[in-house]
Amino acid sequence: MTDMLVRLYDLPGDDAPVAPGVVVQRPLAADSHHVLAFVERHFAASAPGWVDECRCALAARPPTCFVAAEAGAVIGFACFDATARGLFGPVGVAPDARGRGVGRALLLACLRQMAADGYAYAVIGWAHSEAFYRRAVGAEPIAGSEPGLYAGRLRG
Ligand SMILES: CC(C)(COP(=O)(O)OP(=O)(O)OC[C@H]1O[C@@H](n2cnc3c(N)ncnc32)[C@H](O)[C@@H]1OP(=O)(O)O)[C@@H](O)C(=O)NCCC(=O)NCCS
Repeated sequence: MTDMLVRLYDLPGDDAPVAPGVVVQRPLAADSHHVLAFVERHFAASAPGWVDECRCALAARPPTCFVAAEAGAVIGFACFDATARGLFGPVGVAPDARGRGVGRALLLACLRQMAADGYAYAVIGWAHSEAFYRRAVGAEPIAGSEPGLYAGRLRG
């Protein structure tokens, strides 16, 4: 999987509606355990490193993490500046909440914050779904970026 580049000065201006009742927000420190439990429940089996990356994002002040919540429960999360500065990810939406604009809203919340923080470009790290990023924010694959930063991962 390749990394992808996003032009933060050219983000879509529109706000495609997220499903009614869904709120995208930065989590409070006191709610970190709910966010980590969500990531563990839905993504630990397929992406064991995501809990670690999310914990890192939650530890920043302010957290470099946004969550989507419905009726007070976490249904999605997204992080940036976790694995490296300027890197977006991971992002994940609960399987039964997909296809309602939640992933796009989380992606845009993070990228807009990165633009406000002074970045000109963001890198989507290890993009699992190139089509999603291309469609949502015009991201383009970065040549030679696979396996990129993750080449030296520990195995035990
Ligand atoms: C990828 C993911 C975050 C998308 O979340 P979602 O809430 O279902 O996405 P949205 O409803 O916001 O979709 C936004 C747009 O992207 C499209 N899209 C969503 N997932 C897509 C995919 N896997 N491939 C291609 N297009 C996709 C949607 O059709 C929609 O298009 P539209 O604006 O024309 O309607 C979600 O499928 C997920 O959690 N996947 C598992 C974890 C993962 O792969 N994360 C990415 C790690 S790099």
